[in-house]
Amino acid sequence: MKKVLVISYSQTGQLDQLVKSITAPLMLDERIELKYEPIKPVKKYPYPWDVPSLMDAFAQTVGLVSDAINKPKDKDECDLVILAFNVWFLSPPPCISAFLKSDYAKEKLKNKPVITVLRSSNMWLRAYQKVQKFLGDLGAKPKNCIVFNEQKNLCLASVSKLRRLLTGKEEAFWGIFPDSKLSKKDISDASRYGWDIGEVLINDEEKQDKPLLDADTYKLKESLLISERFTDKCFRVYGAFVRSFGKAGSLQRKILAFVSVLVLPVMSALSVAFGLVFYFILKKFDSKKMEKLKEGF
Ligand SMILES: Cc1cc2nc3c(=O)[nH]c(=O)nc-3n(C[C@H](O)[C@H](O)[C@H](O)COP(=O)(O)O)c2cc1C
Repeated sequence: MKKVLVISYSQTGQLDQLVKSITAPLMLDERIELKYEPIKPVKKYPYPWDVPSLMDAFAQTVGLVSDAINKPKDKDECDLVILAFNVWFLSPPPCISAFLKSDYAKEKLKNKPVITVLRSSNMWLRAYQKVQKFLGDLGAKPKNCIVFNEQKNLCLASVSKLRRLLTGKEEAFWGIFPDSKLSKKDISDASRYGWDIGEVLINDEEKQDKPLLDADTYKLKESLLISERFTDKCFRVYGAFVRSFGKAGSLQRKILAFVSVLVLPVMSALSVAFGLVFYFILKKFDSKKMEKLKEGF
């Protein structure tokens, strides 16, 4: 009997639908046992979000500051770990950072093959790199990363996402902004990874020192490589600035939040634009450096 431990965090349940679709074929196989350990923050994040809470979450997230979480309970040995999360501000959510820093993760993930599942609207590379680093530090064996990247227009999709976060509304609006729903096709297509994972486990291939899945599990958008770095750097500097005003929830941070909610979109737009200009210059004049940047993906 093979045992798969699924660790995930989904706030409103969108990611859960993808995880369910991936794991459905594994549930059908009686040679595989599945254990779900949803990560639960002790203090639930609000939904829809209010501006101060969202900006507190921003500062915590980009600083990889841990939020308190309920301890996962599963104690048994497992053969494979599936770690699923959404990208928040180019990083894993604070409760996933907390899990990856926990003693439980140290014990459970050491020497274990890990498949990462992540979802984002466009920019996921930095979040992926940060989690790879955590997994490396834990002595885990990171295998494939399955990325559900919505590939919608970056600027328009960001406006739709922000609107969804602050109002809970998901549908397209004003004729130009796309919806923020998870597509039915993405959900149903996700099960193909589950069939492949099942086959790998039954053939004992998870023990081998190679990626578990042959299928392409993500598309690298190289034009965003530099933009993500720039944006992440700006986010981290601005996040540290916000945290210097006091603890999450403090009055100073609440006041600053209303400035941040205007600063962040402008900062993101500028750093993405600068990144794109740099990308085209580098691609034209220093293609070797560009290739180096792509290493590791
Ligand atoms: C605080 C916060 C920050 C987010 N930042 C991003 C982001 O930078 N990029 C992105 O594509 N989605 C972002 N999202 C949207 C999530 O990735 C995800 O689509 C949303 O939380 C719904 O998924 P869930 O129901 O599984 O939690 C963010 C969501 C939250 C709550």
